Amino acid sequence: MAAPPTILVFDSGLGGLTVLREIVGARPDAHYVYVADDAFFPYGHHTEEQIIARVVPLVGELIAAHTPDLVVIACNTASTLVMSHLRSAYSVPFVGTVPAIKPACASSRTKRVSVLGTKGTVKREYTRKLIDDFAQGCEVTLVGSAELASLAERALNGFYVSDKDISAELTPCFVDHGNARTDTVVLACTHYPLLLDRLVKLAPWPVDWIDPAPAIARRVSDLLGGPGRESDTAGAEMVFTSKRPHTLSHALMPFFGGRVPA
Ligand code: DGL
Repeated sequence: MAAPPTILVFDSGLGGLTVLREIVGARPDAHYVYVADDAFFPYGHHTEEQIIARVVPLVGELIAAHTPDLVVIACNTASTLVMSHLRSAYSVPFVGTVPAIKPACASSRTKRVSVLGTKGTVKREYTRKLIDDFAQGCEVTLVGSAELASLAERALNGFYVSDKDISAELTPCFVDHGNARTDTVVLACTHYPLLLDRLVKLAPWPVDWIDPAPAIARRVSDLLGGPGRESDTAGAEMVFTSKRPHTLSHALMPFFGGRVPA
């Protein structure tokens, strides 16, 4: 019987767990290595050059250490920059996470879409190009949030995060043009689905929230070929680049499909 595949999921912090959760659902048979580059978090505060210089060699070290069958860069701030560098440096298949502008614009009825990401992601040439290519007549508002990823980390770590702090980051997404208002918000940072309940509650009016994680999970499954075996759970590892001891295992278990990350 073939060994279960190893899937390495990488993010600057805990946001990539929202992508991992979907992949685990699609491939319950795989062995998972989740890497949080918390020593360099938040990526949204670094320059493009700094992120490339950090991520490309680090992913190389992780590939050497864990020999994954596939690597998922579960971070928009990194994926909008590093995918071509990674693909030319390493032969393992990569799947990135980039703003879901195409499906959001395809489904918006009011043709008013907002993209909520880190300040880095909304500035990227890559993101502008997605809008040029896929806006399909929509007016797209880019909202760069300085703090929302850190607020999501705080909330997941059990700290109090106020509605006011979340609203301050969220409100610019809601644009009322009089005759038409925003009806679709792209969650262009993998941390934000961690706060989805709060975002829904604090939204000035109801909108569709677009999270690319299910599409990423389908892509991973397609690349690995063949469906996973429901009953076989091959374990999981959690790596923090800061090497901090992690006391989060209990809170993290649901993201790993019930496995306790070692
Ligand atoms: N989770 C990351 C993303 O999808 C970014 C958070 C950060 O490090 O700023 O963009």
